[in-house]
Amino acid sequence: MFLTKKEQAMCDGEYGETIRKSMDILVALGDIYGASKLVDITSAQVSGVSYKTIGDAGLEYLEDLAQDGSGKSTINASLNPPGTDLDNWRELGFPEYFAIKQNEIVDAYAELGISKTCTCTPYLVGNVPRFRDHVSWSESSAVAYVNSVIGARTNREGGPAALAAAIVGKTPLYGFHLEENRMANLIVNVSSELKGADFGALGYIIGKVVGGGVPYFKLQNTPNNNDLKTLGAALASSGSVALYHVENVTPEYDLNPTGEIEDIMFISENEILETRQQLTTTDKEIDLVCLGCPHSSLEEIKNVADIVKGKTIKNKLWVCTSVSVKATADRMGYTEIIESAGGNIVCDTCMVVAPIEEMGFEVIGVNSAKAANYVPSMCGLDVVYGDAEDLIQFE
Ligand code: F3S
Repeated sequence: MFLTKKEQAMCDGEYGETIRKSMDILVALGDIYGASKLVDITSAQVSGVSYKTIGDAGLEYLEDLAQDGSGKSTINASLNPPGTDLDNWRELGFPEYFAIKQNEIVDAYAELGISKTCTCTPYLVGNVPRFRDHVSWSESSAVAYVNSVIGARTNREGGPAALAAAIVGKTPLYGFHLEENRMANLIVNVSSELKGADFGALGYIIGKVVGGGVPYFKLQNTPNNNDLKTLGAALASSGSVALYHVENVTPEYDLNPTGEIEDIMFISENEILETRQQLTTTDKEIDLVCLGCPHSSLEEIKNVADIVKGKTIKNKLWVCTSVSVKATADRMGYTEIIESAGGNIVCDTCMVVAPIEEMGFEVIGVNSAKAANYVPSMCGLDVVYGDAEDLIQFE
C-alpha cells in the first residue's frame, strides 16, 4: 500500500506510540485486503466497549494507549453501547463489579477522543456523515445503516481498526469504499406489505442467503427510517451484510441496472410469518421485554409511551436508547408515562451487551431479529419475538 512521507513517519514512531500502533493496524489491514492507499475519513464509530466482550485484556490495552497520550481522535468519533447504563446502573440492578470496570473502559476511550455517546444509532445523535463520505464504523447494524441509508462508505470494521482509524483520521481504501463493490448481486421481491417486526424477519431470511453480498429489495410499501434500521440490523446479524439497496428509497439503489442481476428471490407473506415464529425459542412467560435494538429513536419511544399510557405493565420493560435521545423523551413526557406504567428507559446499553444473564432474567421479549439471534447465543437466555404491542403484558 502506498504511504505518503508523513504516513511513513507515523509508522516509524515519529508522531508517538499511539499513532504508531494505530498505523500498524491500518497498514496490516490495507496489505491484507490489497488497498492502494489510505483515505481521509470524516467519521468513526467504535465498537468493542462492553466489559462482557473485551474483559480485562481489552481494558488494559485501552488504558495503555490512553496513558501514552501521544494520539487522540480529532474527527467525529462515537462509542458503541457499553454493558451498563453508565449513570443509573445501581438503580437498574447491574452488578457493581461490572459497572466499575465498564466506567473505566468508557473513560479510557474518552481519553482517546471517542465521545461517550454510547449508542449503536450514532446517526440519531449528531454523527451523520455526508453522502459518499469515507468513514470507519464498526457496529454491524450501524455499518449497514450508514452505507445503505446515508450512502457514506465504510467496511465492517473491527473495533480496534475503527479506533485506529479514528486516531489517525484515515482508513485503507478497499472494499465498500470503492464504487464497483457497492453494486447489488441479489434481487429480493417481497410479495406482501411489511410492518414492524416483519422487517427484521425479512432481514433475517435474506442475511442467511446472501452472506456478505449486497441485496436489492423490491418492497410493496415504503419503509421509514426505523424500519430500515431494523432491516439492516437483521441482515447484518444472520449474514454479514454491510450494504443493501431498497428500490426508490435508498440513495444508491440505481447504481446498477437490475436487469444485469441474475440471482432473484421471491419472499411470500407465509415465509415472513414462519420466520417470525422460528425466532421465538420458548412458550414460557416473558420476564423482561427489551426494546431498542438498534437503539430506539424518539418516535419509537413515543410509540411505546402510547402503548403503555395509563396502564400497569406486568412484566419488566426496558426501552434501550442513547442518553441524548432519552433527554428529549424526558422533555416530551414519554419517560414519565413509561415509568408510571412500570417500565424503564435504559440508556447506553442493550439486551445483548449487558450482563442480563447475571440479573435474574430467563425469557426476553424482543422486536428485533438481531436481538432474537444473539440473546440465546451470547446470553444463554430464551427469547420471544414479536411487535412491542404484543410483547408488553398488562395487569
Ligand atoms: Fe445495538 Fe445492542 Fe442491538 S449494540 S444493534 S442494541 S445488539
